[in-house]
Amino acid sequence: MKNKFIYVVAVVAAAVIVLNACRHEILNPSNGGSGSGGTGGGGGTPPAVSNCSPDTVYFVNSIMPIIASNCTMSGCHDNITHADGVDLTTYTKIVRYVVPGNAANSKLYKEIIKTGSGRMPPPPMAPLTAAQIALVQKWINQGAKNNNCVGSCDTATFTYTAAIKPIMTGKCVGCHNPNNLGGNIDLSTHAAVKVTALNGKLYGSVAHLTGYSPMPKNSAKLSDCEIRQIQKWITAGSQNN
Ligand code: HEC
Repeated sequence: MKNKFIYVVAVVAAAVIVLNACRHEILNPSNGGSGSGGTGGGGGTPPAVSNCSPDTVYFVNSIMPIIASNCTMSGCHDNITHADGVDLTTYTKIVRYVVPGNAANSKLYKEIIKTGSGRMPPPPMAPLTAAQIALVQKWINQGAKNNNCVGSCDTATFTYTAAIKPIMTGKCVGCHNPNNLGGNIDLSTHAAVKVTALNGKLYGSVAHLTGYSPMPKNSAKLSDCEIRQIQKWITAGSQNN
């Protein structure tokens, strides 16, 4: 009788754990499986504060896109390959290589400032730009917080130069360039982006439509404003404007 009671308790406890785990997955898709276009929060994407302060570097807005696009492609530091045991797909996993407040002592920073063949990302991939390295450095020195803000974005602006190219460069090109053709897709030039716009995959992937791989992979979904800019640019003819 007593054993049966213990068994029932155990089953109920297991069920509660499983149910909570599922709920956790829904709230925090970044902890989920591959190809889900996770939020990059690891423990959840924090709510966005209303306006981005120009003095602050925000993890969700600036750092996760740099790391997702340059470090988490398949074969590198994604949650399947984790090259050298390193998985950089979520905030929680990234801060393992960070000493908050001290970029110079942070493994993440030391790797990205290396030069030559030992640098990260390794050749033939492009090194991070000086501006990207400076952002990572500043973010670590500001405490490496899991922070998020609402950036300035105006749906009235939807030219390639002012809207589309910056989104691609900041959040997509690291995984979609001639040296690293994720899904065989190049997003590094206007002509290449236009091909993906015309076949419907660009909008389908960023809007997370059924039947498309949600993009950007391993990072937060684009904002509604950015998705609208892409939609308007495509509708207006995907011009090189
Ligand atoms: C971490 C690497 C990575 C990043 C960042 C990334 N992609 Fe992808 N993308 C891939 C891979 C890999 C595939 C192949 C399909 C898959 O594995 O999900 C892909 C597939 C696609 C596809 C084809 C989707 C389909 O259903 O056929 C499009 C379009 C695309 N990406 C656009 C983007 C855009 C736009 C961004 C930026 C907003 C972006 N990607 C960011 C890696 C990435």
